[in-house]
Amino acid sequence: MKYIKLPTLLILFLFQTNTFFAQHSIIPIPVSYTVTDASFTFQNELYLSGNINDDQATTHINQLREFLATKGIALIDKKSKKNCIKISLNKKADVTLGNEGYSLEVIEDNIVLSANKAAGIFNGVQTLKQLFPEKKTDTISISGCSITDYPRFKWRGLMLDVSRHFFTVDEVKAYLDQMSAYKFNVFHWHLTDDQGWRIEIKSLPKLTEIGAWRVERYGRFGENRENPKPDEKATYGGFYTQEQIKDIVNYAAARNITIVPEIDIPGHSMAALAAYPDLSVKKEPKFVAPGIKFSEWYGGGKFKMLIENTLNPTDEKVYEFVDKVFTEVAALFPGEYIHMGGDEAYHGYWEENKEVQKFMKKNKIKDTHELQSYFVKRVEKIISSKGKKIIGWDEILEGGLAKGAAVMSWRGMKGGVEASKMEHEVVMSPTTYAYLDYTQGDRSVETNIYASLSLEKAYSFEPIPEEANAEYIIGGQANLWTEEIPNLPFAFYMTYPRAFAISESLWSPKDKKDLDNFITRTMHHFSRFDNAKLNISKAVYDPIVSVANDGNKLICELKNSIPNSEIYYTINNTYPVQFGEKYTGSFEIPKGNLSLRTRTFVNGEPIGRELLIHREDLVKRAGK
Ligand code: ACM
Repeated sequence: MKYIKLPTLLILFLFQTNTFFAQHSIIPIPVSYTVTDASFTFQNELYLSGNINDDQATTHINQLREFLATKGIALIDKKSKKNCIKISLNKKADVTLGNEGYSLEVIEDNIVLSANKAAGIFNGVQTLKQLFPEKKTDTISISGCSITDYPRFKWRGLMLDVSRHFFTVDEVKAYLDQMSAYKFNVFHWHLTDDQGWRIEIKSLPKLTEIGAWRVERYGRFGENRENPKPDEKATYGGFYTQEQIKDIVNYAAARNITIVPEIDIPGHSMAALAAYPDLSVKKEPKFVAPGIKFSEWYGGGKFKMLIENTLNPTDEKVYEFVDKVFTEVAALFPGEYIHMGGDEAYHGYWEENKEVQKFMKKNKIKDTHELQSYFVKRVEKIISSKGKKIIGWDEILEGGLAKGAAVMSWRGMKGGVEASKMEHEVVMSPTTYAYLDYTQGDRSVETNIYASLSLEKAYSFEPIPEEANAEYIIGGQANLWTEEIPNLPFAFYMTYPRAFAISESLWSPKDKKDLDNFITRTMHHFSRFDNAKLNISKAVYDPIVSVANDGNKLICELKNSIPNSEIYYTINNTYPVQFGEKYTGSFEIPKGNLSLRTRTFVNGEPIGRELLIHREDLVKRAGK
């Protein structure tokens, strides 16, 4: 494979004005990609030929038509041997390509795309779109290439939490549009949590009449937001009607995306309990949590819920409730899996309750971990009775797990490794590489979140750790929790470009991954987002600041992953920063009331943000 390394701004300039290098920026990188000497140049009409007699593939071709129309190109049906896009489904399956693979060639007069299945056509079209110039031009020139491509994993997921923040139908569709462009094929829809129940369940109307609404509060989540006042109206929220859900399911299917709905039980259930308090142990009246502090965290995953948010696993009424919910969920979502959550279920109220203890004794359940396992097994039976497979967060492993249940490993990879050895299917989704709610740039310019995940770290995600039984790792996923994400533009900012990194880790062969090359391609995709007026984080441009104590000296290092860049800094409260020092190696921050000011430059032009960090902050970062 040939990669072209050019200074950033030159690359971006070429990208704006010509198509010639566009094919070098495919994300995720294809399995096999060869540049040829050919060049296909055309104006505003292309003839479309194909043997397509498949509704789904026809849908994808129509999507291509719409895309080309935005570039001023019409797909015409009048036969022609030149200026042609030939799309076909293979009469005899090419085993290498599987269900989702495709082959794509750009030759002198034509573009040729073929696949075994409609899903392959869809993926091929996504790659083809990335070969076109961003801006509308009168003459388009795409240089020749030959691509054979297929995914490494069958589960390539993104999760969106719509409970902490409600996203409208159109916003969910916009999220699906972007993820499908990067060949994600699973949308994990986190539909319920303490802060809102978002799916209409017709047999349990209070879930949305009450559970979908909370009082409006601002400020940092889980810190000092106030409880609802007596008689205060719950005005923030929303939910998806079953008709809207069917519409979104179809919208996703037209983009090769299967939706995995999550109903998070037995914990994270405060919104459900606001509607039906009898389903808890204490049966006290509840409200939908507006982001108040209602838990305490002690490290190592230990915590206490200050308000009960857990279903009562010893109550038959709870299983009737669960059955009603999953009956309707299973009917709405045609996919194979239903996610039952299972994470962070607080056992304290179970431990304190005499009735629960009596039940455990009677049923020879030795502790509340086993009680949770009892619950999970009952839920598994309910879900499988609806013809679906159960998947849950790795806590569902505790106390034993029903055969056939799949595990989503989020507390690192350990749970996933263990589950794979026990022959459970595993989706790797570890906080360490795949939590998109974590801060991605320097804390001085980003939302203050308790953990961080850089683009570079996300790119190093390898879903199959050595110790795992690889056969059972079916894929991976990145998760966007929305406690600190109040709108769609910020959801995009937090998702991209780290989702590019996850997409490439899940689609492309391990040996095709290359960080420098990925960063260069990512910069092309910044233009794609900019032109579409979509928010994307360019935090990768910013210097990465590390500080450490060396004796009584405070030593600072700066770096970034941007090719051909320079970092400038000042430590004497002067600006602009390009008149300061060019970074060539670690330096001391002298004592005094001063700040580090630093920024990245390419060809003398600033890129990214200027960071301004007071010495006191640097001292804190360095630790004692
Ligand atoms: C999780 O992040 N609680 C699955």
